[in-house]
Amino acid sequence: LYEKGILPEKAMHQLCGSSVRELFIKSEKEKDELKKKTENSPQISLSLVDLQWLQVLAEGWATPLAGFMRERQYLQCLHYGQIYDLKKKCQIPGEILEEKDEESGLLNDSYPFYNESISQSIPIVLPIDDKIKEALKVKEENVEGSSSAIDKKLSKYARLTYNNELIAVLEDIEIYPHRKRERVHRQFASADERHPTIKMIMESGDWLIGGDLKVFNRIKYSDGLDQYRKTPLELRKIFSDAGCDSVFAFQLRNPIHNGHALLMQDTREKLLKQYKNPMLLLHPLGGWTKDDDVPLEVRIEQHKAVMEEGVLDSKWTVLAIFPSPMLYAGPTEVQWHARARLAAGINTYIVGRDPAGIQDPDTGDYLYDPTHGSKVLTMAPGLQNLEIIPFRVAAYDKSVNKMAFFDEKRKDDFMFISGTKMRGFARDGVEPPEGFMAPKAWKVLSSYYH
Ligand code: ADX
Repeated sequence: LYEKGILPEKAMHQLCGSSVRELFIKSEKEKDELKKKTENSPQISLSLVDLQWLQVLAEGWATPLAGFMRERQYLQCLHYGQIYDLKKKCQIPGEILEEKDEESGLLNDSYPFYNESISQSIPIVLPIDDKIKEALKVKEENVEGSSSAIDKKLSKYARLTYNNELIAVLEDIEIYPHRKRERVHRQFASADERHPTIKMIMESGDWLIGGDLKVFNRIKYSDGLDQYRKTPLELRKIFSDAGCDSVFAFQLRNPIHNGHALLMQDTREKLLKQYKNPMLLLHPLGGWTKDDDVPLEVRIEQHKAVMEEGVLDSKWTVLAIFPSPMLYAGPTEVQWHARARLAAGINTYIVGRDPAGIQDPDTGDYLYDPTHGSKVLTMAPGLQNLEIIPFRVAAYDKSVNKMAFFDEKRKDDFMFISGTKMRGFARDGVEPPEGFMAPKAWKVLSSYYH
């Protein structure tokens, strides 16, 4: 109906969320041609985290981004937490674009809509060092007497490889300074290198390279978990085939305890008042996490055990991996976590206490106010069609031996079991109190530590 013009664009947006922009090359012929055209182009070797971001872009989680951010998008994201006007280039200071020149300030982007802004609170960028930057300069062709470095210009293409395998080509590239300290201050409100992501950024290259991505194949890791790595389009199909009329997403990077399950069960109860078949996208983060977090393969086993024990019903739960790396940027990052899932067709997002949080390295307390994530998310610009369901903190209620919503009036009845405490129990072989986690799921976790 949308294609035939019967439904206006806006209505289509509201019906099934925004469309998805995948960055995969569709035909074998096109792949061959691009490989041939770029066989002598400079190469950039990606780190694992770079590859994870590339996967995020390629599968369309950051729709409508066409590749790693150019400076214009990077600045929009850092300063406004949104992206818009993707077709335009950054204007050089002092340069006045007259109407007739306007075309020179436009990028060759054929994507149909998105003049409106969309939330994008964290940069998706590719850092490079001086050496790579130099290698990306190629001799200017057809310049008479060209011999010196002055005649070098930026290559149009860069070949992106991982473990020497060609993954993608970056087209119409742009290189700009990676002002790392300024970036981390804006992104994390801190530049303390004891924060693991800040450390990683501060150690990365001094330049950022942006451009349009053309990706050759699906990103696979052959770690036995690829079947859970579903693209947004695949997830939309799963939900539509199941006759689902509302999808609620739960982002997590920790094992599921019964407090998390309470949030998910409660959301479904709420949605059942409005919808016939609300389904849960149980969406553990699958990219890089800090060293002391539980590894992905253990978490997936743990999540499966939770489902097998019936804590979450497999009739209305879809378990899939979200390919993004973790940032630990608190309220700034939670906006990314919610916005990315729009691509999978969700209309509801659960948020609880201290999402994407981390400890303050000095005090051991929360680095970000644990209530700010949900407060910020419920009023985030560029997320208009998403319903946010904020939750109070869940804690272990000793009076009923269950996880329950914390009640200040009888605070002595409650016990807080943080992620750190839970991992400590598992490491020390201590059984958590009954009703904290499904027993089979606890077994998966404790055997990881032994
Ligand atoms: S996160 O980094 O993915 O946000 P985690 O896996 O710990 O971390 O949390 C997943 C979601 O559950 C987040 O929305 C978080 O706010 C919420 N959450 C975690 N623990 C609790 C709790 N005890 N009470 C309420 N919400 C919680």
